[in-house]
Amino acid sequence: MLQEKTFITFNRMIAQNIYLMGFRSKKMALLSKPGQFLMIHLVGTQMDPLLARPFSVHSIKDNDILVILYKTVGKGTSLLSLSKEGDTISIIGPLGNGFPLPGKNQIPLLVAGGMGIAPLFFLSQLLINIKKYELKMFLGFSTSQEIVLFNELTSLGLDLSIATNDGSYGKKGLVTDILDQYLEKKSSIKPMIYACGPVDMLKEVSLRAISLNLTCYVSLESQMACGLGLCQGCAIKANNTTNKPYYYVCQDGPIFLAEMIDWGSL
Ligand SMILES: Cc1cc2nc3c(=O)[nH]c(=O)nc-3n(C[C@H](O)[C@H](O)[C@H](O)COP(=O)(O)OP(=O)(O)OC[C@H]3O[C@@H](n4cnc5c(N)ncnc54)[C@H](O)[C@@H]3O)c2cc1C
Ligand code: FES
Repeated sequence: MLQEKTFITFNRMIAQNIYLMGFRSKKMALLSKPGQFLMIHLVGTQMDPLLARPFSVHSIKDNDILVILYKTVGKGTSLLSLSKEGDTISIIGPLGNGFPLPGKNQIPLLVAGGMGIAPLFFLSQLLINIKKYELKMFLGFSTSQEIVLFNELTSLGLDLSIATNDGSYGKKGLVTDILDQYLEKKSSIKPMIYACGPVDMLKEVSLRAISLNLTCYVSLESQMACGLGLCQGCAIKANNTTNKPYYYVCQDGPIFLAEMIDWGSL
């Protein structure tokens, strides 16, 4: 884990309230694995000094630029969206465990809800690079205006299935509807699922995976004050079959096997 001050190299809006931001850190870029995250704080603003915020590593550009994909939801992300090329940010990372990679004969299946695409993009880049999978990704958005990175994902070679809640693009419904259809049709294969998105979606995907006896890794979010295992603010209840009562999302995660989590408590 490293702590650095660096300069923003770009920060651009790619859809309503959704931004891509890059900043240079060769050392952190080299260390970062898909599923890991960074604690980011804008330097020299009127921000609350404790206002470091966690963001997944979305991709690495030109070997030394870390890229995050973020949505403005409150004070920290709104301030971040106003920052410009050349502004200073402080970053700590890479943090957390990252996604374990599939074994030789395992078929990865990626499931993203909304901004859940952020870490799964990095994972899909890696999976495509290390092995020529027919990589399938299920994406769910509330509406077509929130669809991001469609061209980037298709040019990576991913086979995309998209659902929107309002039916403005793809299948009308939830991402779990299109996942269900696929799993039913392909019941002979046992894919390994990687999921990131809102907690309700992760819960649904996990319960399906557990009932079908599929390996499923979820990327969980929780409010994080420190990101370093110090404040205990990110604790989530462990499934009572494990020997720990709680996990800290920042240290034990943010990637968990579906069966590790007490989904009823979230
Ligand atoms: C490991 C990890 C990786 C993340 N990666 C990304 C990413 O790649 N892109 C991205 O856009 N966001 C990501 N997030 C979420 C992001 O950290 C929050 O959206 C951000 O901290 C909100 O800060 P804010 O000051 O703008 O909002 P606040 O003013 O702090 O909060 C605004 C609203 O969002 C809710 N909220 C804030 N943080 C979270 C959270 N972590 N989970 C659920 N609800 C929350 C608050 O309860 C409140 O309702 C990640 C979170 C974690 C824990
Ligand atoms: S965020 Fe402080 S312990 Fe996890």
